[in-house]
Amino acid sequence: MSVKKQGSKAPSKAGPKVVIRKAKKQFFEDLGREVTVTKPVSFYVADLDKPLSTKYGTIKADDLKKTGVVLSDTKKEFNVFDASFIDKYRRIRRAPQIIPLKDIGVILAFTGVGRDSVVVEGGSGSGALAILLSRYVKKVYSYEVNDEHLEVARENVRSLGIKNIVFAHRSLYAPIKQKAVDLMCLDLPEPWDALGTADKALKPGGFLVSYSPTVPQTQDFVNAVLKHDSFVHLKTVDIIEQEWQVEGRKVRPKSKQIVHSGFLTFCRKIR
Ligand SMILES: C[S@@+](CC[C@H](N)C(=O)[O-])C[C@H]1O[C@@H](n2cnc3c(N)ncnc32)[C@H](O)[C@@H]1O
Repeated sequence: MSVKKQGSKAPSKAGPKVVIRKAKKQFFEDLGREVTVTKPVSFYVADLDKPLSTKYGTIKADDLKKTGVVLSDTKKEFNVFDASFIDKYRRIRRAPQIIPLKDIGVILAFTGVGRDSVVVEGGSGSGALAILLSRYVKKVYSYEVNDEHLEVARENVRSLGIKNIVFAHRSLYAPIKQKAVDLMCLDLPEPWDALGTADKALKPGGFLVSYSPTVPQTQDFVNAVLKHDSFVHLKTVDIIEQEWQVEGRKVRPKSKQIVHSGFLTFCRKIR
C-alpha cells in the first residue's frame, strides 16, 4: 500500500526542484484493457518564485518550495523534491559535444580513481567530464585552448558549487606542471600529440584514457602508444547503451536511439 505524504508545510531548500507527475493508467471495461490516461511529465524548476504552468494545471509558487505531494489548481497530483547533483548536471550549458555518462562511468570503474587521486583532463569543452570526475577524486586539472569553451566550463563548475577543479588556458600538447598524476583523460582532436605531456605528468602505473569519436583517431592514437616506450595499450572499447521500451507486454529495444558515441582507449604508464 502506498502512503502519500502531503507537501511538507515548511519550505525546503531554496535550490532548484524537480516536479514529476506519474503516469496514470485506468482499466476501461468496454475496451477490456488498461489505457494510459496521463503521460508521465517531469519539470526542472529553477525559479521557485513563479508558479509552474503545466497541461495538468498550475502549481502555486508556495507549493514548489515544499517537498512531497502537491496539487495543481485542477487538483492533479504532482511530486516535488530537491534537484540532486545529477538533475543539475543534466542542465549544464553545452559548448562542444560532451562525453556521455555511460562512458564516464567506465573511465571511473576501470581506472579505480578515488578520493586521493589527482586527475588531469582536457580539453575541458563544456566541463562535463571534469565535473563528473571531480565528484570522486581529490583534484582535477582541466586544460582548454578555446576561450569560449573555457568560459562555459567555468560557468558550469561555478553553478554547481564545485571547488576541486582547476582550469588552465593552455594546450595539453605542451608540457604541464603537474607530476605523479593518477589519471590523464584526453578528449582532443589529436590525442597522440599529448603523449609527451602524459609521459611526464603521469606516475608509473598511472592510467591514460583517450576518448575519440572516430576510427582513424583511435587507430592513430593506439599506433602512437604502441611505439612509445612508456605506455602499454590495455584495451579499446565502445560502450553500447541499449535502452528498452517496457510498456505492459511491449518489451523490446527502443527503435530510435544513439548507438555510437566514441571509442575509449585505456593505456597504462609503465615507467
Ligand atoms: C569534445 S571537446 C571536450 C568535451 C569535454 N570532454 C566534456 O565532456 O565537456 C574537445 C575540446 O578540446 C579542446 N582542445 C582542442 N585542442 C586542445 C589542446 N591542444 N589542449 C587543450 N584543449 C584542446 C577544444 O577546444 C574542445 O573544447
